[in-house]
Amino acid sequence: MSTPPIVVLGEAIPDDWLDSRVAEQHDLRVGLSAVHANERPRVVGLLTTLNTRIDARVVEQFPKLRCVSNMAVGYDNIDVSACAARSIPVGHTPGVLTDATADLCWALILACARGIVPAASDARHGRWGQWTPTGWLGRDLRGARLGIVGFGAIGQAVAQRGRAFRMEMVYANRSPRTEAALALDARALSLEELLTSADIVSLHLPLTDATRGLIDGAALARMQRHALLINTARGDIVDQPALLRALQSHQIAGAGLDVTSPEPLPPDHPLFSTANCLITPHIGSAAEGTRRAMAQLACENLLAGLQGLPLPKLVPELA
Ligand code: GLV
Repeated sequence: MSTPPIVVLGEAIPDDWLDSRVAEQHDLRVGLSAVHANERPRVVGLLTTLNTRIDARVVEQFPKLRCVSNMAVGYDNIDVSACAARSIPVGHTPGVLTDATADLCWALILACARGIVPAASDARHGRWGQWTPTGWLGRDLRGARLGIVGFGAIGQAVAQRGRAFRMEMVYANRSPRTEAALALDARALSLEELLTSADIVSLHLPLTDATRGLIDGAALARMQRHALLINTARGDIVDQPALLRALQSHQIAGAGLDVTSPEPLPPDHPLFSTANCLITPHIGSAAEGTRRAMAQLACENLLAGLQGLPLPKLVPELA
């Protein structure tokens, strides 16, 4: 009996989220370290998550690799050029996580704007006291300007929710998104104009060489003192030491971060003890149906790639 080809999962994924053909037709391993050196020629597919770094050295180790399928919309963990050089298609999972990520972004906007976490903590710890007209005052969202940096699917879904909150929507994007902007009543601004004028700045960009450190000290200095920064994209888009300084000196009013650099952020990191910073552990897509849909799409990409068929969601650079 011949030995089945190997597919490596970056992380353990619940069996019932996976297309049964992946397990039936392959020897499944969890983690690259679960493949011994002499088994590497049997590896045909990698179903990765954002924790699995696939660089040129990893690609080189697997001479029969036919597909890399990332269970995430972002794929900055994968060296796409190294895969392309070997004609290995790379898939990702856009679309299925758009709403869940936009929802989480809004959870952070609301939590930061209304001080939900400190207020809940005060209530729980006996600091409720008498209702007073000025207790736990947050800020109004209605009429405030929401600045969306990156107006792709997730940025647009954030704008859609912003309409329900009757905010004024502006966006900055490399290329104009005229039709979507018209439908969502969002106005295009330059990044500089957006940073200078928005009450809330929300980041929805992929991490690339062009966006790494985009929100640096100078960008933060442009923001208004009462402004909030929300990041549900990638931690490295923000210069984190500069953000820490901006929060500690109240150069900006607060930040809601679902992504940091590194991840996980060590518990003794000063951002955790910065009162005007709220951090969640990269849970943008962490809703059960969404994660299941991501796993299914990642399997569809993988199975197509292994059969030499076009991937349903190939990364844009290779499309
Ligand atoms: C999560 O961060 C993703 O890119 O899907």
